[in-house]
Amino acid sequence: MSNEKIWVFDTTLRDGEQVPGCQLNTQEKIEIAKQLETLGVDIIEAGFPISSPGDFQSVRAISKAVREPIICALTRAVEKDIDAAVGALKYAKRPRIHTGIGASDFHIQHKFMSNRADVIERGVAAVKYAKKFVEDIEFYAEDAGRADNVFLAQMIEAVIKAGATVVNIPDTTGYCLPIDYGAKIKFLKDNVPNIDQAIISVHCHNDLGMATANTISGVMNGARQVEVTINGIGERAGNTSLEEVAMILNTHKIGYETRINSTKIYPLSMLVSKMMRMPIQPNKAIVGANAFAHSSGIHQDGVLKNRDNYEIIAPETVGVPKNSIILTARSGRHALKYHLERLGFEQTTEELSATYEKFLVMADGKKDVTDDDLLDLMEGKSQKGAIVLNHLQVTCGAGLTPTATVHLQLGDEIKKASAIGNGPFNAACIAIDTILQEQIDLEDYLVQSNINRSYDTAKVHAKVKHQNHSYVGFGVDEDIVTASVRAYLDAINKITALTVNIPIPEEEEVEA
Ligand code: KIV
Ligand code: ZN
Repeated sequence: MSNEKIWVFDTTLRDGEQVPGCQLNTQEKIEIAKQLETLGVDIIEAGFPISSPGDFQSVRAISKAVREPIICALTRAVEKDIDAAVGALKYAKRPRIHTGIGASDFHIQHKFMSNRADVIERGVAAVKYAKKFVEDIEFYAEDAGRADNVFLAQMIEAVIKAGATVVNIPDTTGYCLPIDYGAKIKFLKDNVPNIDQAIISVHCHNDLGMATANTISGVMNGARQVEVTINGIGERAGNTSLEEVAMILNTHKIGYETRINSTKIYPLSMLVSKMMRMPIQPNKAIVGANAFAHSSGIHQDGVLKNRDNYEIIAPETVGVPKNSIILTARSGRHALKYHLERLGFEQTTEELSATYEKFLVMADGKKDVTDDDLLDLMEGKSQKGAIVLNHLQVTCGAGLTPTATVHLQLGDEIKKASAIGNGPFNAACIAIDTILQEQIDLEDYLVQSNINRSYDTAKVHAKVKHQNHSYVGFGVDEDIVTASVRAYLDAINKITALTVNIPIPEEEEVEA
């Protein structure tokens, strides 16, 4: 018997991107969308166009740049939202509008201040309105996880009758147990008379760590679309992770298949992590640094005798290179090109030449060059923002007052300040705030060494708060204070209000 197709709906660029401080610009979103296309996802949820001009532009740009998957835009059950989505999807080859309204009594009463009959009416009206512009309409019954099943079935029947082609049953709060979520999907299969006219979609959140289990339970009970994000990113505890669902359906031969090319999983996971400045927890299933590392003597012995003793997935299946030592200072341009392409970076001959020069400098100081180093080369050290670190000098040590002198390039100007602090990084932050004349608070700060065991670079994530908004930045350098300052500035460069009037320099001159 042939396998049943499961449609993979990726919402990394919409629900995933809602993580505070991790917003991407349009160019970064296009890059990720292209990689999602290569990975083989069926639908890309590209954004929520009414939410901001930036989101509108990103949906439009992705619609132009990515042609194979369906491009989807989110709306509330409101005509002006749908109008914005229609505008943003204007150039999409295969557009989809994703509209919906609350389904649980909790949401109906406390979010919409409404009643059951009214929300069904508003949901139906939204589907009918969207259907005037786009054929493919997905309806979401928000907080369906906590909704009464009989009412949910009435709502789903009504929106399918109005023209919905896909019905999304989100466990918005990550509340359900797998057995209950599966039963909910089965209830809809058995009790919605027109359910065969739509695809049931599952969209689970991970508040209790059950998103993937709930998603699989939904599939086993009749859902044929899964809504997922790369690395499981998303608000709060995140969404269901694409890599987990894809590899579960791949590993367990239980009759389902996706179009996912699993060898592309790991490179894209790393790219998303870098671009969103969100480190991956080392023990994360499938893509964590330790996912295929065997450290205990008993396990190492077992793996050496036969990998299947302790590995249910071969690392290469998900694109983890067999040998993590991939390049050295003696490698040529072709080797570099091959590995960059494997990680999703297409370069022209001129670009490759410039990257190769930088690669040689980096490789010279290292025993081996890993994927992580390559991503740092491409993403981490480049200062893409308007505010550029031009010079950094710190003094610190036992019995000394930590001081920092910082020079920042702001357009054509170099501005300088010195400060003392409770440590060298703190002093540098105070100097930067003095130059920018802004109150910026460091909210979170994470320092890691290079995860591939050459302990010679510091990788820093910094989260800053400015006027009640959070921004996350990443920096890497051989020097821990410089890496920290880079991360701080990377986050600050995302504060549009501070950078909007500063021209971005063509080539950065970095002395630090
Ligand atoms: O979690 C949720 O309910 C959502 C909907 C907007 C689909 O993300
Ligand atoms: Zn969600």
